[in-house]
Amino acid sequence: MDFKLTEEQLMIQDVARRIAQDKIAPSAEHHDATGEFPLDNIRTLGENGLMGIEVPAEYGGAGMDPISYVLAMIEIAAADAAHSTIMSVNNSLFCNGILKYGTEEQKQLYVRAIAEGREIGAFALTEPQSGSDATAMRCKAVKREDGTWAINGKKSWITSGPVAKYIVLFALTDPTAGARGITAFMIDTSKPGFHKGKTEPKLGIRASATCEIEFTDYVASADDVLGKEGEGFKIAMTVLDAGRIGIASQAIGIARAAYEKTLEYVRERQAFGAPIGTFQMTQAKIADMKCKLDAATLLTLRAAWQKGQFDQGGAKFSNEAAIAKLTASEAAMWIAHQAVQIHGGMGYSKEMPLERYFRDAKITEIYEGTSEIQRLVIARNETGLR
Ligand code: CAA
Repeated sequence: MDFKLTEEQLMIQDVARRIAQDKIAPSAEHHDATGEFPLDNIRTLGENGLMGIEVPAEYGGAGMDPISYVLAMIEIAAADAAHSTIMSVNNSLFCNGILKYGTEEQKQLYVRAIAEGREIGAFALTEPQSGSDATAMRCKAVKREDGTWAINGKKSWITSGPVAKYIVLFALTDPTAGARGITAFMIDTSKPGFHKGKTEPKLGIRASATCEIEFTDYVASADDVLGKEGEGFKIAMTVLDAGRIGIASQAIGIARAAYEKTLEYVRERQAFGAPIGTFQMTQAKIADMKCKLDAATLLTLRAAWQKGQFDQGGAKFSNEAAIAKLTASEAAMWIAHQAVQIHGGMGYSKEMPLERYFRDAKITEIYEGTSEIQRLVIARNETGLR
């Protein structure tokens, strides 16, 4: 097994680190305080290939592998988690599904605009009454005599919903067919029948805009169907497998930032006549933080490697992605918690970014499948039972 990164992987990691440090980190506090959507920075990320890292160059992307995606996500998330949320949805949930299931026209139209950073994409699965139980959706698409579809219903917690130009939407097309009665559609938010609700005020990732969206007699053409009719749930699950690698990477970025700040602090902060890093209780925390961070990173790189195999016809990576997301998100929450604790009052203060890391880390245990859903996926894969 070779742990050495390739020239290309090191290059994209370096590009991401440079943008993260020069452009994103200096304004992270401002974006967190105001919740202002970082459109300029997102455009910069797009211009540098970071909005379509795995998208082939013929569709406007960087044409790199899933490991490159993980490395770049970690750098951006370490500077600001909200930026990495927007990046993750564009890369994984939006571009990935269209690349795998879309027609040539859909790839040219939708993937190119998002991969080049000209537009923002979103993914609409969750509804007010249907989160983890994703097949319980009520948003309906009804086929009309002329072959077009009339879409009606609500979706909630839509990341980038307030700013998205295009959305991958999942709607019920056959209420009698369970998971096989769901179809995916490409939505253009500038068309009639699309409405967005108020932006949600959130605990963390505050600059990543989130809202409810509603469809009232929105008309989708037959060409707007993504994949085949009835294939939507499978598309959503396949795309979420990839998305979970993105969220695991985001969690690692947040955890690394909290860990690095803590290392600096324990070397400098004096108590009882010595740096607090010399105390065994602090040392135990540092060692556990480092072990969890490394374990999360290696499991996420393994999932990314497996996704690369899957993209070339190899085995599925659902289990590896769930293991990575579960481990990394719980590590991020634990590490951010310990970082705040070690910093004491300074950890609780808005003068330092520790409390932001703590708030931002929490979402990684919730979206793209809660920790409970990751455990369910892993246990089902391991036991073969349902
Ligand atoms: N890949 C491909 N197909 C899959 C799959 C996968 N990973 N997982 C399931 N399927 C298929 C099954 O094979 C089955 O197909 P058939 O009907 O052909 O047999 C079908 O999907 C139904 O599968 P299940 O019976 O396992 O479905 P279930 O109802 O038991 O649900 C679940 C499974 C794992 C709980 C799933 O509903 C799930 O992952 N829930 C969580 C949803 C989620 O992650 N939501 C996040 C919202 S998006 C978000 O957060 C984005 C954001 O804003 C950042």
